[in-house]
Amino acid sequence: MPLPQLDISGQLVFDQLLHLATFSDDPNPAVTRILFTDQDLNARAYVKQLMTEAGLIVREDTIGNVYGVLEGSDPTAPAVGTGSHCDAIPLAGAFDGTLGVIGGIAALGALRDVGFRPRAPLEVVMFTSEEPTRFGLSCSGSRAMAGALEGDYLATLRDVNGSSYLEAARGAGYGAASLDAMLAGARRTRADLGAFLELHIEQGPALEAEGLQVGLVTAIAAPAALAVRFSGDGGHAGAHLMHLRNDASLAAAEFALAVERIVLATGSEDTVGTVGRWEVSPNAVNSVPREAALEVDVRDVDADRRDGVVAEVLAEAARIAEARRVRLETRVVSQDPPAASGEAPLAALAAAVEHLGLTSRRMVSRAYHDSLFMAQIAPTAMVFIPCRHGYSHRPDEYASPEDIERGVHVLALALAQLAGDAGAEHVEL
Ligand code: GLV
Ligand code: MN
Ligand code: MN
Repeated sequence: MPLPQLDISGQLVFDQLLHLATFSDDPNPAVTRILFTDQDLNARAYVKQLMTEAGLIVREDTIGNVYGVLEGSDPTAPAVGTGSHCDAIPLAGAFDGTLGVIGGIAALGALRDVGFRPRAPLEVVMFTSEEPTRFGLSCSGSRAMAGALEGDYLATLRDVNGSSYLEAARGAGYGAASLDAMLAGARRTRADLGAFLELHIEQGPALEAEGLQVGLVTAIAAPAALAVRFSGDGGHAGAHLMHLRNDASLAAAEFALAVERIVLATGSEDTVGTVGRWEVSPNAVNSVPREAALEVDVRDVDADRRDGVVAEVLAEAARIAEARRVRLETRVVSQDPPAASGEAPLAALAAAVEHLGLTSRRMVSRAYHDSLFMAQIAPTAMVFIPCRHGYSHRPDEYASPEDIERGVHVLALALAQLAGDAGAEHVEL
């Protein structure tokens, strides 16, 4: 199939990304946009506006995934999808996730503008809450879509205000009569989705360091998240003698160092562990900490090695709790398998890269993405563009308009191949 000539402006997408960044709970350049907050709803409104302006049909599901659809000539064909997320962790930047949404809209808009009529429907999705900030659970929209989220489990989650997921969803105008109905309303299968692509910044330094324009992602590393709570009895910081204390924050400190030691002991640079969230209570200078609630992130390209680290980390938490006479609660929030990219979407991306004469390499994604779950229902692949110094999850995250333009162009041409041209006689996926 001859690939269409497209008119894509990286500068326009860049400007739209910076406009989206203004919907933030922290002043720019920092971006903080948490699930179902007012700024998340403002961002959603802007995304829907861009979808409409690109000539896409907008729809939303019960968990708040937002779709922009370009109809295909064969309405029975499984759709070809792209997309990413627009939520942002506290003090993040303007490009993580958002590029795949705004860039996806630009890709579909560019195809439509040149009169390209896909055989299979093309759709761009803004997934609900890829980031775990509000409920501790990552990728809730894409998990629900893939059927990888149990209602019984989701019902146990609460945000810092004690709200349930369903309450938060309803507050934002989504949700359903029950959690199960909400999850069912977001569910899709292989029959609905023929292939999926996600455009994202690399979030690592390799492409920039090697002077390459594009990364083709062959696999996504396996992530896990744990919640760990140490509880002691607290007491007066002056009057409570040292040998009588069971200080929860000292248990947490010892535990965080143990996580680092266990990860480093694997000897593999592919294994990473982070204790990124601490809440100490009562958090007063003259009070012995009574409670320390931590969240731990462990990842590896090798799922067995990751599982070994998780088991050791949990065992070490128990040992420390016993030695320091504190109580311990642990919960495995998520422990997901890795994802391998599908052949057809990877080949479509590679063909687009070759057609455009870009430099590229194949690589593994160490960050997780909604594609981790899309890969459970459809052949999926990702395309990365460089980001400055590999910075991500920080306010100075940056991708240039030129790199953005190349990424969107690759995405659009790969989507066109996967969806097929309605005018072509024979289409092979
Ligand atoms: C996604 O934001 C991740 O933490 O990998
Ligand atoms: Mn992120
Ligand atoms: Mn992301």
